[in-house]
Amino acid sequence: MQTPLSSQCLTVNLDPPYKISTEQLHVLPTSNISISFRFLRPGDQSEVKSLCCDWFPIEYPDLWYDDIVRDTKYYALAACETHTQRIIGVVVADILALGSCNREDQQILHKSFSLTTPVCYILILGVEKEYRRQGLAGILLYHLLNTLYERGTCQAVYLHVLYSNKQAIKFYQSKHFQYRVHLPHYYCIKGENLDGYCFALYLNGGYPPFSLTDFLSSWWAYMIERNPCRLIQIVRHFVANKFTFKDDHQRTSSYKQISRII
Ligand SMILES: CC(C)(COP(=O)(O)OP(=O)(O)OC[C@H]1O[C@@H](n2cnc3c(N)ncnc32)[C@H](O)[C@@H]1OP(=O)(O)O)[C@@H](O)C(=O)NCCC(=O)NCCS
Repeated sequence: MQTPLSSQCLTVNLDPPYKISTEQLHVLPTSNISISFRFLRPGDQSEVKSLCCDWFPIEYPDLWYDDIVRDTKYYALAACETHTQRIIGVVVADILALGSCNREDQQILHKSFSLTTPVCYILILGVEKEYRRQGLAGILLYHLLNTLYERGTCQAVYLHVLYSNKQAIKFYQSKHFQYRVHLPHYYCIKGENLDGYCFALYLNGGYPPFSLTDFLSSWWAYMIERNPCRLIQIVRHFVANKFTFKDDHQRTSSYKQISRII
């Protein structure tokens, strides 16, 4: 979810129009409703605005809606109920150079990436309440990611989310987005300053800065994958030894056991 305050400088163009097959229909598993996909176009402003007012606690100016439906620089895909052509889901994303992102967002990529590296920012992603939990946001995201993979240049996709928006956080985590940056007082909602989080997904060779926490968690995941039972046993043994043994020799040998696994 974008704040109206954040300045997005559009410097990298994806050469629209993007490809998408409008013949491709999708049937939602629970409601059995047929969905088709198309890009937003002039005339969609009020429909998209009314959806966004429902989904987000932030008001965007009318000019912004004009922009996302007219400007082909945006990847602005709508999911429509095939029968009525009513828009029930939308994703809007923008490609920009890393150097044009807000300063704090530039931390999503490792320092070795230059400021001209293209990244994709998801401005909005939403689905009408009655159509949620049927995979629709996942399909919208899939179409966006497919385009980015095909173009092959964008190294990361990122977005901002309100700290309390648990459903969106769960959604992005389920799609392998990683929590990257805490943004204190990022949103101003009804006069209250609220924190946001920046999440990112890496593609086309992009990767995040390497922190100690990242290292420990990937090491842990790797070890668990290799031999979870043995690892847990040894750690338990190590902890027990560390706190109960008086004998220095015994303690040293349990440290050695740990270092052998590492
Ligand atoms: C977030 C949002 C887009 C998800 O849309 P959706 O169509 O329901 O998402 P999907 O059905 O594709 O969900 C895929 C997975 O995400 C996770 N997920 C999505 N919504 C969830 C929820 N409310 N609680 C827990 N997990 C959730 C689940 O793992 C889900 O898989 P599952 O249903 O098989 O368990 C939707 O809730 C929404 O429009 N919210 C309001 C707008 C918003 O906050 N947008 C995000 C900020 S830009």
